[in-house]
Amino acid sequence: MIAATPAAAATLAALHATAFPPAEAWDTATFAAQLALPGAFARLHPEGGLVLGRVSGDEAEILTLAVVPAARRAGLGRALLAAAMAEAGARGARAMFLEVAAANEAARALYAAGGFTPVGRRRAYYADGQDALILRTTLGG
Ligand SMILES: CC(C)(COP(=O)(O)OP(=O)(O)OC[C@H]1O[C@@H](n2cnc3c(N)ncnc32)[C@H](O)[C@@H]1OP(=O)(O)O)[C@@H](O)C(=O)NCCC(=O)NCCS
Repeated sequence: MIAATPAAAATLAALHATAFPPAEAWDTATFAAQLALPGAFARLHPEGGLVLGRVSGDEAEILTLAVVPAARRAGLGRALLAAAMAEAGARGARAMFLEVAAANEAARALYAAGGFTPVGRRRAYYADGQDALILRTTLGG
């Protein structure tokens, strides 16, 4: 797993574009801006995946997580999630949140396996009208 700095923003954006539809993909400027925020961190998986997270006080958030289509179902998503949880825990976070489309079965299964449970729902949150689920897990025992 590789720690990504703002200098890797173009690499992160290129990976993201393979995993999300064009309207949802984040560009280089977006990654650079997100990574410049206090508490932000990112990890690149050498086989094709990324996670971007942020810690604020004792709470953390996963902002995006993606694996290139050709490398899915090989454990990369699980490894990226574990790396983000470990990094956030090491930075002092005790809980981690994220939002996921209610219909995103792959991501929901990944997060459930990682110990995340739903704590809220935002109706018609996405541009296509889908609901978002807010998931949470505790960190660091
Ligand atoms: C969600 C995503 C990151 C999963 O990455 P991945 O590398 O394929 O996940 P893993 O191989 O580590 O899978 C871990 C577990 O998640 C679950 N899972 C992953 N993909 C799944 C799928 N398509 N259907 C059902 N369960 C799935 C399984 O429980 C899996 O364990 P298993 O393979 O032992 O059964 C990937 O599908 C992706 O990039 N999707 C598009 C972007 C996205 O939706 N990101 C999340 C936004 S919040």
